[in-house]
Amino acid sequence: MDKLVIEGGVRLKGEVEISGSKNALLPILAATLLTDEPCVVRHCPSLRDTNTMLKILRVLGKAADFDKGVITAAANGVTNHVADYKLVSTMRASFCVLGPLLAKHKEAKVSLPGGCIIGVRPVDLHLKGLRALGSEISVEGGYCIARTRGLRGAHMYLGGEYGSSVLATDNVMMAAALAKGTTIIESAACEPEVADLAECLIKMGAKIKGHGTPTIEIEGVKRLKGFDHTVIPDRIEAGTFMIASLITRGDILIKNVNPRHLMSVIDKLQEAGVQIRMSGSSMRVSIKSHIRPINVTTLPYPGFPTDMQAQVMALMCITPGISVITEKIYPDRFMHVAELNRMGAHIQREGPHAIVEGVKQLSGAPVMASDLRASAGLVLAGLVAKGTTSVSRIYHLERGYENMERKLAGLGAKIRREKE
Ligand code: UD1
Repeated sequence: MDKLVIEGGVRLKGEVEISGSKNALLPILAATLLTDEPCVVRHCPSLRDTNTMLKILRVLGKAADFDKGVITAAANGVTNHVADYKLVSTMRASFCVLGPLLAKHKEAKVSLPGGCIIGVRPVDLHLKGLRALGSEISVEGGYCIARTRGLRGAHMYLGGEYGSSVLATDNVMMAAALAKGTTIIESAACEPEVADLAECLIKMGAKIKGHGTPTIEIEGVKRLKGFDHTVIPDRIEAGTFMIASLITRGDILIKNVNPRHLMSVIDKLQEAGVQIRMSGSSMRVSIKSHIRPINVTTLPYPGFPTDMQAQVMALMCITPGISVITEKIYPDRFMHVAELNRMGAHIQREGPHAIVEGVKQLSGAPVMASDLRASAGLVLAGLVAKGTTSVSRIYHLERGYENMERKLAGLGAKIRREKE
């Protein structure tokens, strides 16, 4: 296992190019299962999660190739509707092969993904939506076994206790694209990644309206064709580099970003007194004089993303005053709090709230990454801490950030990879 070793205190400066969105790419790869025709996906980030999804596609009947950011997938002659535990358990997004397999083969057996460090993470909304489309689903031996005589469009409400669900909306939208008749999903997830999947399905011949809003209407078609699609830029990676610029009091030009996807983050940072200059697909982020504390509540899109919670917390750790961070999507997503406190932060957790009292300086320490975005928060803290920080278990980071250490080093950070 590798760890990242960071010498803190360098102001980051220069340009960074944002990669394609992981969370847009993974469901789009699942969508290739809806057709036998060749599919091309461009601007794909080279990540551990991308490779996991490619392995799953190969098992499920695709010859999938990944070269210089371009993935091609075409039928490999295998017909299989079983996605096993070993593959699905490592990555939750793989559960969204269920909808496409069911629509294409009328049956599917997909391992339940299980919980993870950020919380329980149920799949009831996925199952509710697919059942509404006319499938029978049972859970046996840790697997979700689904069958249908033919999917039929339905009018459904997909909101849950914590709001809409990104992957459940994806799963149901993909299945509905090949169902007979019209499906209306109320309380659909509005995330840009869901809209990007819809755009890709439309290229395949699907009839979809309302994506990007809470009501999506899908008129089923008999068959879908191959596609050529470029995934949207990763808004969470872009947001992470925005914080990298601020936390080090640097000046980073972030390229290949869609600022419209980051409005809640931009708004909060502006409230904190940050200067953000946008020009086309580039954004320059710097601090005018000092930053003010802010209160942040994570919410479904267009609210503040839960995937940016740990990073903004790292910034608030060194912002004088009291900030309150409230997590409304995953109330237990606070594993990074104890690690940040080990670096000298003053954070107190109270249920779904974290109360952050800004300190003058963090000090470098050995810390452990617990999940993907928590790891990013710890790396950011390490960039500004006095002395050396080593972040272990960085395989979490590799699941979602393409070349993070190389990109940070390109901006001047003193960061290196070492064997643990
Ligand atoms: C996606 C993102 C993840 C992000 C999350 C929330 C991908 C690959 N992952 O995950 O990075 O953190 O959205 O923005 O796109 N829920 C239920 N029942 C369900 C499904 C979800 O109650 O059947 C709950 C979850 O526990 C959570 C909330 O709904 O509280 C939102 O989860 P969801 O949007 O489904 O997250 P993912 O799609 O798994």
